[in-house]
This record gives sequence, structure tokens and C-alpha cells, in this order.
Amino acid sequence: MNAAPRLLVRDLAQVATPAGREAPLRGPALRVVDVVGDAFILCAGATIEAVGRMRDLPALDGDVVEVNGTGLAAIPGLVDCHTHLCFAGDRVGEFALRAGGATYEELHAAGGGILSTVRATRAAGADGLRQAVVRHRDWMRRFGTTTFEGKSGYGLDRETELAQLEAVKAAGGVPTWLGAHALPPEFDDRDAYIDFLLADVLPEAALIAEAADVFLERGAFDAAQSRRYLEACSRAGLALRLHGDQFTESGAIPLAVELGARSVDHLEATGADGARALAASDVTGVLLPASALFLNRPMPPARELVDAGAAIVLATDFNPGSAFCESLPLVCSLACTPLRLAPEEALAACTVNAAHVLARADGIGRIAPGFQADLVLLDAADWRHLAYHLGGDLVHTVFERGSAVWSRVRA
Ligand code: NIG
Ligand code: FE
Repeated sequence: MNAAPRLLVRDLAQVATPAGREAPLRGPALRVVDVVGDAFILCAGATIEAVGRMRDLPALDGDVVEVNGTGLAAIPGLVDCHTHLCFAGDRVGEFALRAGGATYEELHAAGGGILSTVRATRAAGADGLRQAVVRHRDWMRRFGTTTFEGKSGYGLDRETELAQLEAVKAAGGVPTWLGAHALPPEFDDRDAYIDFLLADVLPEAALIAEAADVFLERGAFDAAQSRRYLEACSRAGLALRLHGDQFTESGAIPLAVELGARSVDHLEATGADGARALAASDVTGVLLPASALFLNRPMPPARELVDAGAAIVLATDFNPGSAFCESLPLVCSLACTPLRLAPEEALAACTVNAAHVLARADGIGRIAPGFQADLVLLDAADWRHLAYHLGGDLVHTVFERGSAVWSRVRA
């Protein structure tokens, strides 16, 4: 039997990884990053075999592909657990209107916003959607994302919702069914739309998606409607996620805690009681500061959540309306500025903790033997440039399962 091909990344200035094996990390553990200087990473096929100091590198037999890491820092492949990357068209016109004073909620209420992307996404067809996901995934890879989640929610009809989930899965993503994202034009009653979703879409969506998500917000779905949708999705075997507390506290955190959801995402409007309730639960808080920035809204109370003991995650929310941003390094910068987190907390939030939200923390999100060989080499000798280099071009090479999927250095 042939040995698996091996990859040796050698002479790295640093290897930085969240310490330990626990997930999710919270409290002081969120700040503990193991840093090894003058280091190597050895991978066997798709798996990390060993990590250590160059002086401890053993003699290697057989075929070994060597990558020179001089001057570079390695971190785990980044995990983006909240994106809406399956969309067609754009909303650059709305962006300009917002720059002139219109608000996101006003545009939505006037039939623009999410519904404008629904029109373009329905018209794209299954092939068009597959192409869009691959294009957007490749944008994300260039910023170091090696695992991504992708939501439906721009179809709002059976055919397009299922095509969105299939397109995310075909591109290697983790599909989340967001049927309850907005009320489509064919319906004028939210309860009737949820009846339709549960009867006509859920049975097949549950075969493709890993989780269900709902937009619990004024102008979208209320707590009772969200509960009915999520309980049915849970019975069908899906994990639960919620878009909650984006503009108003409308009951998302209590519902998420009661139903044992994986996460509540956004939290820009979360107050002290909500933060305490989330921190005391097993529900993770997914923070999306690029969305708050893009909509010029208040930032989520990240420092308060971490200090209260919550398991927090950072994600892009990449979508054409509220966060046209595919860069987790930019999100890490925002985490260390208005969100007042430490670089160590930011790193854990978009690796280990994000992998936990996707139920993959046992094999993804750390640089350690036995973990998947997903690595990002940063063009900096100190890994904290991940957050320090605001909007910078700092990703040198990206490996997924031991293969380079993007490199600044062309072969
Ligand atoms: O997470 N708020 C709801 N959904 C998305 C935005 C979708 C859109 O505007 O197209 C979000 O911000
Ligand atoms: Fe979102």
C-alpha cells in the first residue's frame, strides 16, 4: 500500500492555534492561543500529522512536498459559519440609496431589500446558482476561509430554496435552510407561508440541510411563528439557528435557549438581560460586525457577552444587502476595535467556536495532530496581523485538506 502523500510546511515564523481540545471556548479559555516559533507542520494527506519546532523535525522518508514558510505565520483555516453566499444580482443601487439616508428596514418594507435579491435569485436557475456559490466561495478562500456555511432564503419557493441548498452543498459548504427569511410576494399571511414551508419544502430541505434558520424580527417573523417553524424543523432532524436581536429584542434569545438552538446570530440590539441569559446557556452568540458596520448600526455587546461567559463566534454574514463582505480577517479587525475583543479571542471565535456551531469542532479549527489539514499562511511573522492589518492583503497561501487551494505565489 502506498503511503499518503505528505506535505511539510517548514521554517514558519509562527504556528498559532487555539489551545486545548475543548469546544466551544468561553471565558479565559477563549484567550489561550498556543504559539510555536520557528516551526513546522507536517500533513499526511488530508490530516495534520505533527506540529513542532524545526529543531525537533524528524528525518522524513518517502515523498514529501515541502513548502517554505520563512517569514510567514500559520493559523487554522478560518470557519465562516454564517453566510448568505447563494445569491444572484447585487444591491449596489440600494447601497447608494442608503448612503443618501434611506434605511435598510425602509427599503425592505418598500419591496426592495431581501425581496429584490429573491427576484434575481429565482431568475438565475440552478446552474446560475451553482456558479454564483463557487464564485463567492472562491472570494472567501482568498481571505482564508476553508469551511463555510451557506443559507437559502432568497428563493422562498420550493424549487429555488432546494436549488440553493443543493448549490451550497455541491460547492463543499454546509447548507442551512432559511425558508423563514421573508414573506414572498405570493403570500400575504405569514402563518400561511409557514404552513407552506413546513408541508411542501421541509421534507426535502431536511434531506440536504444540516440546520434551519429563521429571521425573528419586526417586519419578518414573530416569536410564535418562529417557534412553530423551528419546532417542526427540529422534529425533522435539523439543528436550529436564529437571526435575532438585529434591530429589536423580539424574543429570540429566550426561544433559542428554550429550544436548545445552536446559535443566535446578530445580537446588535441585545441588552444586559439578554446577554446574561445567553451567557448562562449552551447557545452560542454569533456576532456579525461587518453587517453592523455596513448598515451603520450599533455593534453587538461582544465584550459584555464574553465577560459574562458566553460562547461567542465571529462570522461575515456575507450577503448582497446587509454585509457585502467576504473577509473574516476584516471581521477580526472589527472584533479588536469596536467590539473590544483580544486578537486571541477573535481567532478562537472564527475557528474552534465557529466549527462548534457547524458541529465540526472535533476535526476542524485547530492546528493539531489528527485535525483536518486546513491551514492559512499569513504574510507576516506575527499571527496577530490577522486582526492588525485592517483590510490588508495578508493571506499568502490557503490549504484545504492538505492541498493548496489558493496562493499568492503562482506556480
Ligand atoms: O443576516 N437580516 C436578515 N438577513 C440577512 C440580510 C439579508 C439581505 O439583506 O439580503 C442578514 O443581515
Ligand atoms: Fe444573516
